[in-house]
Amino acid sequence: MRPPIPEPAARYLELLAGCLTRDLFIDEEVRNVDLATWPGGEPVGLRSMLRARGWRVVAPGATRQARSVGNDWPPHAETMIGLARLANVLDCTSRALADGVPGDLVETGVWRGGTSIYLRAILAALGDPDRRVWACDSFEGLPEPDAVRYPQDVPMKLHTYSQLAVGLEEVKANFARYGLLDDRVRFVPGWFRDTLPALSHELGPIAVLRLDGDLYESTIDALASLEPKVSPGGFVIVDDYGGIEACRDAVSDYRADAGIDAPIQAVDWTGAWWRKP
Ligand SMILES: C[S@@+](CC[C@H](N)C(=O)[O-])C[C@H]1O[C@@H](n2cnc3c(N)ncnc32)[C@H](O)[C@@H]1O
Repeated sequence: MRPPIPEPAARYLELLAGCLTRDLFIDEEVRNVDLATWPGGEPVGLRSMLRARGWRVVAPGATRQARSVGNDWPPHAETMIGLARLANVLDCTSRALADGVPGDLVETGVWRGGTSIYLRAILAALGDPDRRVWACDSFEGLPEPDAVRYPQDVPMKLHTYSQLAVGLEEVKANFARYGLLDDRVRFVPGWFRDTLPALSHELGPIAVLRLDGDLYESTIDALASLEPKVSPGGFVIVDDYGGIEACRDAVSDYRADAGIDAPIQAVDWTGAWWRKP
């Protein structure tokens, strides 16, 4: 469904996807390993020998297969969604642009910023003159679950993972690293429950809405405030639809309430999308 893309733009976007996922450099990627997890117990004396030399223990970061479908939390990559879901972002956004669907591009849940960086790059590569990218995140990780309203969020304990908390300045620096930090990128810091209702008044139409907040709460809050702003012919992408039941439930509940029956299409083991008729 991707419309034709001029070759220089297609090559730039392919190269950028390889960088943002680190797929291009996967053979060199390593992640720190805790010696305490050594099978059979930590080898006696090894830790102090390593310390004395200023060495550390590392293991391969991921396989190319795992990274291609975004199946790990990468140590350095600016996005965790993998190549298949980045390709879907390009499919939907280039289709919206080619069809003249009005509106900006919005991501709720940006982490290190990689997918929002890719959205800004698509606008640049395809010569769009004025659409904006809205990057919405707490920039401090996931909220503590609301056990009364959203009990299905409780067992995941995602608010306890410090790896998911990436500060706004770090995200801005990641945009700047790729030359894509400008006034057409708008950051919306804060919990979705607080920021998105106000954002919905500030925003015009949305051409592509990408949800990546994992929780029932984060998904339903984003849908309730922003899905009504999606233009006819626009796209709604849900990163965690296949992988997280609570997210899938939020999507099902919202679609049932709003009377949406546009077919849901799978991207990979977790990503999914639909197009607003
Ligand atoms: C899985 S990560 C997003 C991955 C990212 N899209 C990428 O390209 O790698 C989830 C992000 O959503 C944010 N988040 C989740 N729920 C939120 C909420 N209710 N309010 C604000 N931020 C939230 C977290 O801070 C985190 O950065």
